[in-house]
Amino acid sequence: MAQSYSAAELYEWIENGASHIYLDVRNEEDHSRFAVEGPHNIEMRNIPYFDFIEAPEQASSHLDPESSVRVICAKEGSAQFVAEVLESLGFIDVSWLEKGIISWGNLLIPKRIPSPDNYQLWQFNRPGKASCSYGLIHADEMMVFDPSRNIGFYSDFATQRDLTITHVFDTHLQADYISGGPNLAKISQAEYIVHEGDFSGSDIEFRPIVDGERIQFNNSSGPDILCTHSPGHTPGSTTFVIDERFMISGDTVFIVSVGRPDLGRKVVEWAKELYRTLKTRICTLPENLIVLPGHYTDWDLESTDDYLILNDFGTVKRMNEDIYEIDDEDQFVEYIIENMREQPEVYDEIRKVNAGFIDPDEDEQDIMDLGKNECAASHMVS
Ligand SMILES: [Fe+2]
Repeated sequence: MAQSYSAAELYEWIENGASHIYLDVRNEEDHSRFAVEGPHNIEMRNIPYFDFIEAPEQASSHLDPESSVRVICAKEGSAQFVAEVLESLGFIDVSWLEKGIISWGNLLIPKRIPSPDNYQLWQFNRPGKASCSYGLIHADEMMVFDPSRNIGFYSDFATQRDLTITHVFDTHLQADYISGGPNLAKISQAEYIVHEGDFSGSDIEFRPIVDGERIQFNNSSGPDILCTHSPGHTPGSTTFVIDERFMISGDTVFIVSVGRPDLGRKVVEWAKELYRTLKTRICTLPENLIVLPGHYTDWDLESTDDYLILNDFGTVKRMNEDIYEIDDEDQFVEYIIENMREQPEVYDEIRKVNAGFIDPDEDEQDIMDLGKNECAASHMVS
């Protein structure tokens, strides 16, 4: 009987450069829309499940029976079936992904960010979405920033460490993934803290951010969080500066590129807003701040040797001179327009979920929430 493996093991193999062949048996369209990717290139094959039903020997003839094959499908049944077919044909090392591609899409990898001894900062990388959320821990309290909808992960993380989640922040109204913020705040009896530029008129209960306010842990010691309104990607986008050392930049500043201001379909207006934000609110921040972004697009350029997505702000500016050196608002708008791409249709629906206007069932949310983000203004680096 072929064994199963978890999404967490799958990530570990990719991070460690294991020499498996990954066999995606979903149809070509689903595979091209969203496939497993990680910090290193992997040997990925896409041979649809039906090929293994119709002509198993022919379908498997593209694979080496001596190699280790890790099968992936939508839910798990087809991968298990194909793994068993391969075993029956003499393949010696075959296993299948538990709970399918959705478990990969929801996977969060916790990595500790080096910080002063009196607090802990964690990056929760979601490789399936190329997005990052964060946890800040002081004494027995935890703050969470930009949680994804896999809220069980954050509450388990806190429970295992005897922590209480006291504050939940969203840097903005997300368009590319369903936020876990409101539900995580609710089950933790924590405050949900967001800017009303994005949330006024929504059906979500929240504490509005005041620009320039400093938020502290309930025990009022430990690092404070300076809230800096940084509109552009969205009207309510906010950057959180922790302990004057770290910048949780949401989709305003990425390690490569900046957050695209065209998702709200007010490209000129929001691009101008972003230009002003970058010039007057972001570039005035110290260069030694460590940028902790909401997304990434390229592991090679954006991750450290320890697979953390971060860099100091000075380096980030140098990596993106083509953006930061633009000194004219109209030229900046032009740059944004030149780099504009279509946004996935589902983004409008995701925004409605995140504003509390619609509440699709879990299966529907799983499907809406699958797929990589499209949040960066460009993929170019100077
Ligand atoms: Fe975003």
